[in-house]
Amino acid sequence: MATANNPRKILVTSALPYANGSIHLGHLVEYIQTDIWVRFHKMQGHQVHYVCADDTHGTPIMLRAEKEGITPETLIANVHKEHSADFSEFLVQFDNYYSTNAPENKELSQSIYKKLKAAGKISTKTIEQFYDPVKNMFLPDRFIKGECPKCHAKDQYGDSCEVCGATYNPTELINAYSAVSGSAPVRKETEHYFFKLSECEQFLKDWTRSGTLQGEAANKMGEWFENGLNDWDISRDAPYFGFEIPDAPGKYFYVWLDAPIGYMASFKSLCAKQGLDFDEYWAKDSQTELYHFIGKDILYFHALFWPATLEFSEHRKPTQIFAHGFLTVNGEKMSKSRGTFITARSYLDYIKNPEYLRYYYAAKLNSTMEDIDLNLEDFVARVNSDLVGKYINIASRTAGFINKRFEGQLNPSANNAVVSEIKASANVIAESYAEREYGKALREIMRLADLANGFVAEKAPWVMAKQEGQDSALQEVCSDALEMFRLLTLYLKPVLPKLAGEIEQFLNIAPLSWSAVATSLLSQHRINAYEHLITRVDAKQIEAMTEANKENLQATPTPAPHSQQRHAEHQQAASAEVAEAEYISIDDFTKVDLRIAKIVNAEHVEGAEKLLKLSLDIGEDKPRQVFAGIKSAYDPATLIGRLTVMVANLAPRKMKFGMSEGMVLAASDERGGPFILSPDEGAAPGMKVK
Ligand code: 2FM
Ligand code: ZN
Repeated sequence: MATANNPRKILVTSALPYANGSIHLGHLVEYIQTDIWVRFHKMQGHQVHYVCADDTHGTPIMLRAEKEGITPETLIANVHKEHSADFSEFLVQFDNYYSTNAPENKELSQSIYKKLKAAGKISTKTIEQFYDPVKNMFLPDRFIKGECPKCHAKDQYGDSCEVCGATYNPTELINAYSAVSGSAPVRKETEHYFFKLSECEQFLKDWTRSGTLQGEAANKMGEWFENGLNDWDISRDAPYFGFEIPDAPGKYFYVWLDAPIGYMASFKSLCAKQGLDFDEYWAKDSQTELYHFIGKDILYFHALFWPATLEFSEHRKPTQIFAHGFLTVNGEKMSKSRGTFITARSYLDYIKNPEYLRYYYAAKLNSTMEDIDLNLEDFVARVNSDLVGKYINIASRTAGFINKRFEGQLNPSANNAVVSEIKASANVIAESYAEREYGKALREIMRLADLANGFVAEKAPWVMAKQEGQDSALQEVCSDALEMFRLLTLYLKPVLPKLAGEIEQFLNIAPLSWSAVATSLLSQHRINAYEHLITRVDAKQIEAMTEANKENLQATPTPAPHSQQRHAEHQQAASAEVAEAEYISIDDFTKVDLRIAKIVNAEHVEGAEKLLKLSLDIGEDKPRQVFAGIKSAYDPATLIGRLTVMVANLAPRKMKFGMSEGMVLAASDERGGPFILSPDEGAAPGMKVK
């Protein structure tokens, strides 16, 4: 049990961003989520280390440097500067922000590889790969382009078609060409090194059951186990920007081998700076805690490869992996043409205040892998109403009287019911932060801010100030309001650390830690002059930002990957300028076969946290079996006999609990759900929905 003298020792990481693109609002969801969690635990008095680094290796970085006529080292040094500035201005406070291209990482990667080899977990195999005969290099799938074998769209990537969504092997592309040199690639044999993941299944199954993963992530693991684990190709041939594999000249570690080891390397560099004991955190029997925050797109790497790598190289495993969903803006994928593909820098240029975004994201975040939406109109409304209208308002309506009439001196009441109620919520709020239920924490804090505002409105200090003989009552009311403000500031500090610092200054108090809930502003304590703390966001700033991002797109190609989120190397585009499909055509829409379905049976599925098993009659010989993630909202008995809408031509999917032969449509977001759809009376099973 951790105590004040014996704090929990916690190491926290966020995913390492690639060193070939700018940080954008999609990335920031994760860094802000992690930073809030870290700050909260630091406020609780635990010993927390938050490390990260740039993910610097791989083909895209090598080729981009070449295109810019600089060395990869210069490229990654420039990007390191840019990323560090972005993070620091968004108040993401790493204890160390390092690079995977560092001596610690080389040493750790090589020694881990040697241990895996000694444990019999490395094999070699000759494989055939596409090779660029002009550039003299093997080509990752994303660097091969050609005509889609399904819809015949030109210039599609080697693994999937941007137009029709088909996925395929690069060998299936028609008239394939190298995105690097334009030449026709040839097939060539080469020896690759593999990590024998297939032998790690039992270990991974046991590990999955140890409570390390969220429910949804554990389900995903179940699917992967069901499909069988393939050995993992961990080598790439020269030329490759990365670390050479020991005793294998011309072979390099695939970027995803050394990237997570970068977590260790960054921590090792922190150990050297701060005199920490590296082994205390990474040895097999470590008693410390290790948490990785990641996006759901890289769960495979963190929940399969990473724990297996650690286990078979004699290291500790993560305590927990926290995966979050993607960001949408105004309900849609971030889009360059709509101006919603916004970099961290562009946000800072136009909106200025990073804490607005921190607050908004926190209000939307929970502990699941659901996507979160940044609705720009709602962003303006929420920031203005919660932060300016509710929170800061408490001080702005009361501090002036204390400063002007009482020379800054407080005289709080001995017992104020609202103050007591605010204090009583400390544990609920703390639990919500610890569980990453930030939206829940902020809803509670805003409920308390409403109480504080109610108190101020009821006492109306501005009326008291005009009445004779009300001085001490006026001082007491304003002092109590400032005590409420102090407590709310404490609760909001993990989210709004800069503002909290300014308020600590204004209230003339020591930096707030969580234990300061139990203290109070004392009688005769003097506050400093109140200065304007925050300004409202103007919808015009948002407009200007989205407009500017639209223009930028036309003026200069952005280096960011074409998709909305961070990308795994093998998914990264060789050239970033991909026309985005903003609309789907009517032909695309008619491909989706939507049908009215009658739920003829609905039942619980043993071992499934979210799923119900439905039998759906759509007028075929026998009902379709569909697993739907609606368990949280529906008692199966109440569903039987209902009509709903299903996607009838979705390819059947093998799930852990059986085949799912379609999909039921349901609405949900942070306001609630899932709500399944129902047609009006008269609709019948099998009717086409169009
Ligand atoms: O997907 C990405 O952006 C990777 N650069 C994340 C790496 S996280 C860790 F494993 F290094
Ligand atoms: Zn296609």
